[in-house]
Amino acid sequence: MRNRLLLIGLALAVLLVVIALVMPWGGTHSAQAPASSAPTLPPSSAPPVMGAEGIGDPYFPLAGNGGYDATAYDVQVRYDPAADRIEGHTTITAQATENLSRFNLDLRLPASVVTVNNQPAQLHQVGGELQITPAAPVLVGSPMTVVVDYAGVPSAIPEGPDDPSPWVRTADGAVAVGEPDIAAWWYPSNDHPSDKATFTITATVPAGLQVISNGALLGGPEPAGPGMEQWRWQESEPMATYLAFVAIGHYDIVRRDTRYGLYLAAYDHGLAPQVAGAARASVEQTPDVIDFLSGIFGPYPFHQLGGVVPDAPNLHFALENQSRPVYGEGFFDVGPDVSVVVHELAHQWFGDSVSVRHWSDIWLNEGFATYAQWLWDERHGGPSAKQSAAMNYADHPADDEFWRVPPGAPGKAAVLDRAVYTRGAMALQAIRMAIGDQNFFASLRAWATDRAGRNGSVQDFLATVKRVSGKNVDEVAQTWLFAPVRPAAPPS
Ligand code: ARG
Ligand code: ZN
Repeated sequence: MRNRLLLIGLALAVLLVVIALVMPWGGTHSAQAPASSAPTLPPSSAPPVMGAEGIGDPYFPLAGNGGYDATAYDVQVRYDPAADRIEGHTTITAQATENLSRFNLDLRLPASVVTVNNQPAQLHQVGGELQITPAAPVLVGSPMTVVVDYAGVPSAIPEGPDDPSPWVRTADGAVAVGEPDIAAWWYPSNDHPSDKATFTITATVPAGLQVISNGALLGGPEPAGPGMEQWRWQESEPMATYLAFVAIGHYDIVRRDTRYGLYLAAYDHGLAPQVAGAARASVEQTPDVIDFLSGIFGPYPFHQLGGVVPDAPNLHFALENQSRPVYGEGFFDVGPDVSVVVHELAHQWFGDSVSVRHWSDIWLNEGFATYAQWLWDERHGGPSAKQSAAMNYADHPADDEFWRVPPGAPGKAAVLDRAVYTRGAMALQAIRMAIGDQNFFASLRAWATDRAGRNGSVQDFLATVKRVSGKNVDEVAQTWLFAPVRPAAPPS
C-alpha cells in the first residue's frame, strides 16, 4: 500500500516535470520574449462580433480599430490643387482576427461606396470612424479586401476644436505630413503604428506637377487622361500609417544611385534661393549620414533614401516619413542644418523600422533620434553626448515645467513635448553610463536588429538592455524616464 502510494506519487512528479518542460509557461523561461506573439484566434464557429472602434491605445482610444490586421494598402488619389479636392479609391488587404459582422476604418473624408470581398457593404461614418457592415460576416483568418471610394476637401477638416487640419496646402499643391494624425485626411486605414503594412501610392494631378512619396518610384509622370498625369510609388517594407506621405507641387528632383539604393530628393521650386541652397547642402548629406548611423545602429532598414523640402512656411517640423523624410523649410532659414537630417534619418531605425507599440512609447522614437544628434556632434568635433546631457540638464532648473514630463510615460498632452526629446536623450546617456559603452551600443543594435519591421514598448527596450548587458537598469529608468522631477545630478 505504502509502496503503491509512493509509486503513484513518483509517477505524478515525473508527469509534472514533463509538463513543465514541454509547456511554454513551464520551467524554461526565456528572457528574450518573442517580438510579436501571434494572438490566439477564436474559432470560425464563434458568433460574429463588431470589431472595436479603437486598437487599444491608452492615449488615443479611437486610433486604429479591432478585429483585423491590414497587410497592404493601395492608395489612389486624384488631387485638384485649385479646389484642394481629393477623390480617393483605396484598397485595403487585411486578415480578420475575429468573426466580424462589422468593423471600422479610420477616415475623415466622406466615403461614398465600400465593398468587402467584392460585395457592396453598408457604411456609416461618424467623426473619424467609418463603420462598415459587410453583406456577410467575414470569418476569422480569412482574407478581406476592402475598397473605399471617398472625396472631400482635406484642409477644411480641422483636427480638433483648436487645431487646424494637418493637411497643408502650398502655392501649387499640398503636403500630407503629420504625427500622429494625417492618414485619415487622405486615405482610410487601420490608423495605428502597431498595424504596419506595405503601400502602393498613386496620385493623379494636373500635368506638369510632381508627386513625391515613400519608397520606389514605379512610374511617373504617366499620362492619365486629359491634362492629368499620375505618379506611382511603392513602399515594400511594412510601414506605419502616419509615415505614408505625399507631396504635390513643382519640385526639382535629384536622383542618384547609392549603396543603400536609389537616393531621391525633391526641393520645391517656391523656396527662396538661399533656403533652397541650405536645404540642398543639408539633405544631400543623407547618404553620408546613413553611413554614420548604420555604423552605430546596424544596416539601413530600407531600400530607398532621400528627402523632401516643400515650400510650406506653416510646416513647423520635420517628419521621419519612411525612406524619405519631409523637412519644414524653417530648418534651413539661416543656413544648412545637418542635425535635423541626422534626427530624421535616425528615426528610420527608431520609429520607422522599429515602431512604437503604443503612442505612450514615443520616447523610443524621439529620445533615440535626439541622442543620435548628440552622437553625431560627439564624433564631429562638437560636445560629447555626456556634455550635451549636462548642458541640457543645466538649462532646466528644478522648478522648470520641463521636469514634470516623464519621457517614459509623457501623457497624451505631452506626447511630443521637448522633454520626450531632450530628457529622453539624457535618459539614454544615463543608461549608457550605467552599463558602459560596449553594452549600450550592443543594446541599441540588438533593439534595431531584433525588432526590425516590427514594434516594441519601453518595457521591451529595458528588457533588451537587461538581457544584453546583464545589468539591472530599473533605478536609472525610474529616475530618468518615469519620475516627474529633476534627477539630483546630470548623468555621470
Ligand atoms: N517626429 C517628428 C520629429 O521628431 C515630430 C513631428 C511633430 N509633429 C507635429 N505635428 N508637430 O521630427
Ligand atoms: Zn523626431
